[in-house]
Amino acid sequence: MIVLGIETSCDETSVALVEDNKVLANLVYSQISTHKKFGGVVPEIAAREHLKKLPALFNQLLTETQVDMMQVDGIAVTKGPGLIGALLVGVSFAKGLALRYRKKLVGVNHIVGHVYANHLVYPELKPPYVVLMVSGGHTLILKTEDDFSVKLLGRSVDDAVGEAFDKIARLLGLGYPGGPEIDKIAKTGNPKAFNFPRPKMHDSDYDFSFSGLKTSVLYEIKRLQASNVSELPISDLAASAQEAMIDVLLYKVTKAAKDNNVRKIVLAGGVAANSRLREKLNEYTSEFEFYIPPLEFCSDNAAMIARAGLELLKNGVDHGLMLEPVPNLFE
Ligand code: KG4
Ligand code: ZN
Repeated sequence: MIVLGIETSCDETSVALVEDNKVLANLVYSQISTHKKFGGVVPEIAAREHLKKLPALFNQLLTETQVDMMQVDGIAVTKGPGLIGALLVGVSFAKGLALRYRKKLVGVNHIVGHVYANHLVYPELKPPYVVLMVSGGHTLILKTEDDFSVKLLGRSVDDAVGEAFDKIARLLGLGYPGGPEIDKIAKTGNPKAFNFPRPKMHDSDYDFSFSGLKTSVLYEIKRLQASNVSELPISDLAASAQEAMIDVLLYKVTKAAKDNNVRKIVLAGGVAANSRLREKLNEYTSEFEFYIPPLEFCSDNAAMIARAGLELLKNGVDHGLMLEPVPNLFE
């Protein structure tokens, strides 16, 4: 089965063709440079950029793969969660193609797409497994059951962890996106220099909260400035804040896996690229098996949407032209 995937939920415009577990092509245009000067994603600009890039990216996909739309069995598009304007562009484009080429059309939950990315990379991976999904938009703990259905175990009640990295980086005067900047500068800092809070770490649920940590960093900066330090210890602040976030993430995801008698833990989302997080996984390898897809499939891409859509199409689902985006979707 060949499926065309379309992803426009945030600031990556992506189209892909997937044949069963094989990615024929996965084209991603990142808008990071456009949003950089604003220090974060501007929803209106994101939607307009998707509109500008999507048709050309689609043509490039067909040219590169030499696949004719006649060979395509169905179209899968992200229906949510995401930015409403951005989602609308992808869904409208997908509807246009479905109408023009008389194809089946399925709307895919973006989060379920991230989970399915693993099946492109690790075809041997079988559920049950627990997923730690950590990006600029989401911080979730999910469980994939034997029948491949996805259950939500926990989520951030406020900022996503990637968002916290980005906001703390801004407080420290580092660039955007902040995650990679903190990752880099933290290598020269002391993670124990400041004892930042580990919010909700010992609560019995699997939820997270990161907005208080950002405030603690802000207060620490103000305290240091008031004490007339000659220079802010940026690398120590970055390393200590990063350590607090990683401690909570690893504690909670391993607890979720343990409580559910699961050995396999999958990491997804841009924050999974964090080098300190990857280093600290080594402390848990006697108890758990970790799966980390390469960044190309960890961050937003259309191949994962096509792969998740393929499952729906195989089961006879066709949402057709009534499909609408759902910005707050989680199911
Ligand atoms: O999954 P992603 O590429 O896009 C979405 O948010 O959907 O994730 C982007 C997020 C940003 O917040 C970025 O700062 C963070 O992932 N990130 C990192 C690292 N690389 C990217 N955070 C920590 N350490 C990194 N090395
Ligand atoms: Zn995502």
